Amino acid sequence: SFAGMSGKIGIAFGRQCLTMVRSQDERGSSVMNYKQWLAGQLAGQLEGVAEESIAELVEYPPNPQMGDLSLPCFKLSKQLRKAPQAIAEELKSKWSGNDAVARVDAVSGYFNVYLNPAKFASDVLSEVLEKGERYGSQETGQGKNIVIDYSSPNIAKTFHIGHLRSTVIGNALYNIFQFMGYNSVGINHLGDWGTQFGKLIVAYKLWGEQSKVEAEGIDELQRLYVKFHDEADAKPEMEDEARAWFVKLEQGDAEAEKLWRWFVEISLKEFHKMYDLLGVKFDSYAGESFYNDKMAAILDELKAKQLLEEDEGALLVRLDDYNMPPALMVKKDGGTLYHTRDVTAAIYRKNTYDFEKAIYVTDAGQSLHFQQWFKVIELMGYDWAKQLQHVPFGKVSLEGAKLSTRKGNVIHLEELLAKAIEKTREIIEEKNPNMENKDEVARKVGVGAIIFNDLSNNRIKDIVFSWEEALNFEGETGPYVQYTHARACSVLRKAGDGADKPDASAIDAAQLTNAEAQGVVRELYLFKERVEQAMLKLEPSIVSRYLVDLAQSFNRFYHECPILVDDPGVRSARLALVQSVRVTLKNGLRLIGLDAPEKI
Ligand code: ARG
Repeated sequence: SFAGMSGKIGIAFGRQCLTMVRSQDERGSSVMNYKQWLAGQLAGQLEGVAEESIAELVEYPPNPQMGDLSLPCFKLSKQLRKAPQAIAEELKSKWSGNDAVARVDAVSGYFNVYLNPAKFASDVLSEVLEKGERYGSQETGQGKNIVIDYSSPNIAKTFHIGHLRSTVIGNALYNIFQFMGYNSVGINHLGDWGTQFGKLIVAYKLWGEQSKVEAEGIDELQRLYVKFHDEADAKPEMEDEARAWFVKLEQGDAEAEKLWRWFVEISLKEFHKMYDLLGVKFDSYAGESFYNDKMAAILDELKAKQLLEEDEGALLVRLDDYNMPPALMVKKDGGTLYHTRDVTAAIYRKNTYDFEKAIYVTDAGQSLHFQQWFKVIELMGYDWAKQLQHVPFGKVSLEGAKLSTRKGNVIHLEELLAKAIEKTREIIEEKNPNMENKDEVARKVGVGAIIFNDLSNNRIKDIVFSWEEALNFEGETGPYVQYTHARACSVLRKAGDGADKPDASAIDAAQLTNAEAQGVVRELYLFKERVEQAMLKLEPSIVSRYLVDLAQSFNRFYHECPILVDDPGVRSARLALVQSVRVTLKNGLRLIGLDAPEKI
């Protein structure tokens, strides 16, 4: 099944990363990967158990009273033919002192390790402060190309909330892969070709006005398109006319092409406005039309490889053996299809970018489509078919009847962003009327709220869209994380010169051994691992949820531990922790596509 296939890709991918992490650690950085490190310490004591499998078993206990690291020995008990507690006891008795560790214990079949809190704090802070905006990054990708196809809206059609999901998830994956040492290539596979353009041309020639289209853009184009369908019900000859115009367009007729170009231009202008607001960029806008002159060769190849079958005048690839409906490649009238373009585009991308992986971010409703044409690539004999991966996300539906009055039942992204910005503006006006650059902050926080809301659940989960929730800034939201970052900035500003450039080696880390400070250190340490997991699972929500955890641990620390105290040792240690939180929050926010304003 397709699910099984993507699972395999995930695992293969996971292995590769794991080995990279290890070789990096062997070079020795200040903060090690503690799981790997502990595995290295224990490997000699557990006969026949590979270091790597120990590392995979090590856990972070949910409660610090059970240690910072823990090995569940019952998972080794069968292999070692020993009772779990006996294994744990043995590990404890053989443990030789180590300055990274305060003590070890054997409890209920777990071998628990309590890190030396001062060294833990000093190692973590040194790494965060030294790496700065690179903190959490890795070189796993070794510069290999990852092609990410995302957003990909359709020309002359509304950019709706489903496209927002693709945009936001794709953009986050783009950043995450880049941060993991890959070279991300972002492609906007615009839906800019197809019979609908014949219809649009007919509708425009019948009812359109240039000035109105120029003023109202996609909304007006969409209206014309809808009107075409309304009228064509009664006048079927309009459909023939539309087909004829599309044929003209395909043959390069000057008038048809001029209109099409104009529709594309009008639509792109609006998409760009949205992308600018969202802070999203693409390396290529090669849309469906880009492949017009490239499909014939691919169809020839399919024919030569005896994969094409004729069926009532159409050409298709049978996929019965794989329990899938056939992939239609050429229609009766000679027209090509979505499948044809995707197969052609994939081969083009492989030749152009020699990708390590090509990722497609769309709603789960398109899963079968991807499964089908991935199989076609495989049947063509391309072993890189396994490097293609669909990254599906859940559907967005509207909440109850509240919004059913809205025509077309779609949420306009533009309206959504405008409302979020307006609401932020009101909050600022109420709470901080003297703030400088209110508009800029309102934009960053309002847009951030929408992006974060989209990334706060596992991507596959269906979303019931609610205005209330999307515009809720309390609790586990983007504004909460952004606000926490601004709070850290504000403390550092108040502290004065140099507080944002602490010298990690001069910190008295013994001042950071209390529970609240350690809670923050633990979260800071976890960042790297979370980013890696987000990449392996293609799941940006791992980073958003992480940011909430870090923000919460920081706010607990902030409430319990006064920072700007007289004692210079305490003060500088706490400030270094604040600066580390600021750096990490900012890095994480940037990865998922949010700005981190310094004042809110
Ligand atoms: N334009 C399509 C849509 O709006 C998404 C395209 C996704 N990318 C692809 N290569 N098929 O549903």
